[in-house]
Amino acid sequence: MNFEQLKPEVDNIISKTELSVNNKLLAICKLLEKHIEYYNWVGFYFRNGDKEELVLGPYVGAPTDHTVIPFGKGICGQVAVSNQNFVVPDVAAQDNYIACSITVKAEIVIPIFVNGKNIGQIDIDSNTPDPFTKADERFLEFVCQKVAEIL
Ligand code: SME
Repeated sequence: MNFEQLKPEVDNIISKTELSVNNKLLAICKLLEKHIEYYNWVGFYFRNGDKEELVLGPYVGAPTDHTVIPFGKGICGQVAVSNQNFVVPDVAAQDNYIACSITVKAEIVIPIFVNGKNIGQIDIDSNTPDPFTKADERFLEFVCQKVAEIL
């Protein structure tokens, strides 16, 4: 399934009245991990209230020890501060990186904005080197906009 085919599937999950917010987020993680072969870990992190830290939300993939990430730490913590997409083609080349699994080669993190505030992010790890393009960024921005509507 390509990105254009996945968009209506994301819409469909968002509009399911019988699902809780967390179950919608989990369904989105499962959808993306299943249909994009180089998405190997897909999860959401959210700001913990007024604290300058991120807390892990729904995800699919290998369990991670990094359930709380301080602002500024790792790729995720940097996006919490920068409000910018962060595409990492080679995680080994990053100094400020938190390794979750030795199989991960690349990572992409896209912030989620609600009323202009950066309240969290979608984080995707890939076991394939340098797999992400502008098309991934545009698609994941679409996903984050849809998610922002239910938060
Ligand atoms: N690699 C991330 C940590 C989260 S894991 O990828 C699940 C980072 O450097 O922020």
